[in-house]
Amino acid sequence: MTSPVRLALLGCGTVGQEVVRLLHEQSTDLAARIGAPLEIAGIAVRRLGRDRGDLPVDDDLFTTDALGLIKRDDVDVVVEVVGGIEPARSWLVEALRAGKSVVTANKALLAEDGAALHDAAAEGGADLYYEASVAGAIPLLRPLRESLHGDRITRVTGIVNGTTNFILSAMDATGAGFAEALDEATELGYAEADPTADVEGFDAAAKAAILASLAFHTRVAAADVHREGITEVTAADVASARAMGCTIKLLCIAARGVDPAGRETVSVRVHPAMIPRSHPLASVGDAFNAVFVEADAAGQLMFYGRGAGGAPTASAVLGDVVAVSRNRLAGVRAASESAYADLAVRPMGEALTRYHVSLDVADRPGVLASVAGVFARHDVSIATVRQGSAGGSPGRDGDAELVIVTHVAPDAALAATVVELRGLDIVRSVTSVLRVEGGA
Ligand SMILES: NC(=O)c1ccc[n+]([C@@H]2O[C@H](COP(=O)([O-])OP(=O)(O)OC[C@H]3O[C@@H](n4cnc5c(N)ncnc54)[C@H](OP(=O)(O)O)[C@@H]3O)[C@@H](O)[C@H]2O)c1
Repeated sequence: MTSPVRLALLGCGTVGQEVVRLLHEQSTDLAARIGAPLEIAGIAVRRLGRDRGDLPVDDDLFTTDALGLIKRDDVDVVVEVVGGIEPARSWLVEALRAGKSVVTANKALLAEDGAALHDAAAEGGADLYYEASVAGAIPLLRPLRESLHGDRITRVTGIVNGTTNFILSAMDATGAGFAEALDEATELGYAEADPTADVEGFDAAAKAAILASLAFHTRVAAADVHREGITEVTAADVASARAMGCTIKLLCIAARGVDPAGRETVSVRVHPAMIPRSHPLASVGDAFNAVFVEADAAGQLMFYGRGAGGAPTASAVLGDVVAVSRNRLAGVRAASESAYADLAVRPMGEALTRYHVSLDVADRPGVLASVAGVFARHDVSIATVRQGSAGGSPGRDGDAELVIVTHVAPDAALAATVVELRGLDIVRSVTSVLRVEGGA
């Protein structure tokens, strides 16, 4: 058999330890699939003395000098499972420029500065693979960057954060409020001690940027993504959704569009939204992830599975390691980044959405006409109006509840409508404002 492919493993935490285990357990099969054995040349960590269970590797492989490890002549492939922007970016740029293949799970870095990595890969003629960065074990990026390259993707809608999906699923199932459901998620290990990145939508926004870049052949960074988290979603919102035959999910949505000048654009956003219970994403429960892809010729495709966790993420990392190792042995590299379309990213205000608005209003004649007038002034057409309690907080004496669902309109027009409604004296309060997606 040919000489081994030598790996530098950067990071040996939740994902890194599972990578080590899988490399050990499957070494014979992996060697057969690649045509050469895989060997770990070294493992860079922050704390040498940390307890890592009984990992099947020699202690003397561990080092705190990641850069020194990357630069070693006997390292062919760098696997980065540390996370964060720096020093990971400097390490990976160094590796790629030196022609070493890189496999990374680092969504934050790819979304913040994927351009630096892609440019370094092009410079060094090296492979850059990152399947594990979005939706964990689910094979998703390879289909987008290879299988669907003969097609034209029009929209990607995903549940790409397990923590928030667990919380929203729990709120839907039990009627609990956000804080209570977050506590349960923390207790069960689905939420980190500091859940900000998940519940405020930062994690999903990073993944949305990566998905949009691949789907639309355009560089999209995390800063281009409109982001709203789930901290404001209330039990009353969930009840309102239920009354409409919907559920609430934190969605990442990347879609093609056309701007007023007729130029093709993309819009990329992450926010909670109501979707009908009949939508394929509505039944994605617990901490699972799923991504719904729509393409001109392929039609609708759905990818579903575990979006996080040591072993599922390590599965995606290993798949990439096999691919880049095969490429090295064959003396080839995968197709480089495809960003030729360079579409403009449209501001959120121009994104086309629908709204579900619940209002507590004074129960007297003419109120409905006044409310409808506000929508009309902003050119937002009303699809349905419902009166009466939708399961939310009951109105005060002399109040009535109005639930209005709009047709598609620019987000800015819808937002301005809600602002004006809040200023009307006949509107006691706007109890719930949610976007509606997926044909509800
Ligand atoms: N966990 C998941 O389910 C999941 C899913 C998808 C993607 N990811 C991504 O995978 C990556 C790793 O996640 P994780 O959950 O495995 O993280 P983790 O458990 O916190 O492990 C991070 C590892 O990096 C090491 N490290 C940190 N700073 C370092 C430094 N300056 N030099 C050398 N080593 C350093 C740590 O060393 P010590 O062990 O010595 O502290 C640790 O081994 C992240 O990019 C994450 O976003 C994770």
